[in-house]
Amino acid sequence: MNNQHIRNFCIIAHIDHGKSTLADRLLEITGTIEKRKMQEQVLDQMDLERERGITIKLQPVQMRTLVNGEEYELNLIDTPGHVDFTYEVSRSLQACEGALLVVDATQGIQAQTLANLYLALEQDLEIIPVINKIDLPAAQPDHVADEVSHLLGVPKEDMVFISARTGLNVEAVIQKIVEKVPPPTGEISAPLKALIFDSVFDDYRGVVTYVRVEEGSIQAGSHLRLMGSDATSDALEVGVFTPKMKVRPVLNAGEIGYIVTGFKDVKAARVGDTVTLVDHPATQALPGYKTLQPMVYAGIFIKEGSEYEHLRDAIGKLKLNDAALSFEPEHSPALGFGFRCGFLGLLHLDIVQERLRREYNLDVIVTVPSVAYRITQTNGQVKIIASPLALPDPSVVKLIEEPWMKVDIVSPVEYIGAIMALLVEKRGKPRDQELEYVDPTRVIIHYSLPLSQIVVDFYDRLKNVSSGYASMGYDFIGFEPADVQRMDIIVAEEMVEALSTIIYKDEAQRAGRVVVEELKKMLPRQMFEVKIQASIGSKIVASERIPAMRKDVTAKLYGGDLSRKRKLLEKQKKGKAKMKSLGKVDIPQEAFLAVLKR
Ligand code: GTP
Repeated sequence: MNNQHIRNFCIIAHIDHGKSTLADRLLEITGTIEKRKMQEQVLDQMDLERERGITIKLQPVQMRTLVNGEEYELNLIDTPGHVDFTYEVSRSLQACEGALLVVDATQGIQAQTLANLYLALEQDLEIIPVINKIDLPAAQPDHVADEVSHLLGVPKEDMVFISARTGLNVEAVIQKIVEKVPPPTGEISAPLKALIFDSVFDDYRGVVTYVRVEEGSIQAGSHLRLMGSDATSDALEVGVFTPKMKVRPVLNAGEIGYIVTGFKDVKAARVGDTVTLVDHPATQALPGYKTLQPMVYAGIFIKEGSEYEHLRDAIGKLKLNDAALSFEPEHSPALGFGFRCGFLGLLHLDIVQERLRREYNLDVIVTVPSVAYRITQTNGQVKIIASPLALPDPSVVKLIEEPWMKVDIVSPVEYIGAIMALLVEKRGKPRDQELEYVDPTRVIIHYSLPLSQIVVDFYDRLKNVSSGYASMGYDFIGFEPADVQRMDIIVAEEMVEALSTIIYKDEAQRAGRVVVEELKKMLPRQMFEVKIQASIGSKIVASERIPAMRKDVTAKLYGGDLSRKRKLLEKQKKGKAKMKSLGKVDIPQEAFLAVLKR
C-alpha cells in the first residue's frame, strides 16, 4: 500500500484506563476480527496476561478500513501500562508516528498517563487524547478534558469522548487517526533499513524479529544482514500481524510486520538492531534503543544441578522476547551455577520466573531481590555490587551508597497526609517543590526515596493509604550514602545463601526478628528440631526454633519391661541426631518474599 494510506500508532494509558478494551473495539469495527470470534482483550495473547488481567508484552496488529471512501492500513501496537514494562512502551513508540492517549473519565490524569505521555512527546509523536468510560455514571468527561487540555494545550474539540466498552464514538477515533497522525515517510527504492523492536524464538524457524521498515523493502528470500551483530541469513518469510502472523509477499517502507530470519543463535538478532540487505546495503544503522539500567537484581538457580544448560538456553530465548531482562552467569557454593539477573521491578521478576516455569518447564530458585549498591573500598577502588553476597568485608569498605529515585505521586488532596507519612516511614525526602496542584482537588507530590524502599511493597502500600486513588512514577537520580550491612539467615546450622539481604543498620534487630518469626511459620516441620537464626557478621540478632515432629515409637509396646522402652527411645534419639547432621531443610519460595517484606 502507498505510504500516504498507512498510519502507525500505539495506545498509551495509565493501567486499567481501557487500552486493551479500546484495541478490541478497533479490531471489531475494522472487521479485523469477526465479532463472533472476539474474546475480551484479544491482544493479550499470553495466558499469563489473561489470567492476571494485565498487559505484559507489546502486541502489534494490522487493520484495514475505509475512511472517506479510501482504504487505509492502520498499524496499532498495544502496550502495557505497568511501570515495570515501560521499556515495551518506549520501543513501541519509536516504531510509530502517533499515539492515542487514553484517559479514564472517572479517574483523570494519573502518574503513568504523564510518564507515558512524556515518552511519546520525546519521540515527537502526534498525540490524540481519548477520554474513555463516558458510559459510567461517575464519569466527569468535561472536567477530565480540562485537565488534559491544560496539560497538552490541546483544545477540547480535538479530543474524542468514547466508551470503549459499548463502542460509543469509537468510529471517531479512527477518523481522527487518519486525519491527525502523519503518514510514514520512507522511500521504497532506498536501501533497506528496518528497526527490530521485538522478537521471539520459534523452535522450528529460529529467531522471528518484529520490525518497523523505515526505508526500502524486504521479501522472503532476501539476503539480509544485521548491521549491529553483522550476522547474515536468508529471510524465510515476511508478514504482518492480524494479530496472528500472516504471510505477505513483501514488507515496504512505513509498514510494521515480522521477518522469519532463520537465525538459530539468539544473539544474532538483538532488539534495537537494524536489518538491511547484503546486495543493497544501507550505510548507516538506525539509532536503536538506549540500554536499560535494571532496578533490582536476583539470582536465578535451578533446583536440579544437571539442568543448568536448559536454564541457560531458556534465559537466552526469554531475553529475545523480554529486552528489559539482563543476565550474567553466577556461581554460589550452595546453589551451584545460575544467573544474576536484572529486572525493572518485582512484578517483572515475578513474570520472568513464571514464564520460565510455564514456557520452559523449569523449576527455579530465585534469591532475595536486591538493588545495586556502590562500594568504595579503603584502597580507593569503586565497584557496583548486584548481590548481597558480593558485599566485601566491612574492614575494607570505606563507603556504601544506594540508588535514589525521584518519585512523583498524583493523588486527590485528602490523602496528602497519609501519603506523606508513608513517604517519611520509607526514608523519603521532599524535593524542591514538594506539592504541585493540578487543580484544587488534586496534587502531585514530589519526593526522593531510596530505590530499596520502593521495590518491596511501596506501590501496594500507596494504593492502600489512598484507597486506590494515588498513582506514581519514578526515575533514577543518583547514589547516596547508606548505613547498611548484610544480614544472613541460618537454618539448621546452615547459612542459606539465597536468603541473605542488605539492610539498614538501625533496622537490623527488628528485621532479624520479623524474618525468623515469618520463617518459623513457613518452614515445614522436620523429624528433628530446626533452629532459625538471623546473623550479622558473627552476631546472632534473632533466633527461633521449630520443634521436631514427634513420632511415638513406643506406641506399639504394651507390657514389657522399662529397658525395652528406653532402648527404643535411645534408638530414636540417635536417628534424629543423624538426620539433623545430614538434615537439609527445603526452603519454600514464599520464604524469600517474607525476607524481603520484613
Ligand atoms: P492494562 O492492559 O492492564 O494496562 O489495562 P488497560 O488499560 O488495557 O485496561 P483494560 O482495557 O483492561 O480495561 C480495564 C477495565 O476497565 C476492564 O475491566 C474494562 O472492562 C473496563 N473498561 C474499559 N473501557 C471501559 C468503558 O468504556 N466503560 C466501562 N464501563 N468500562 C470500561
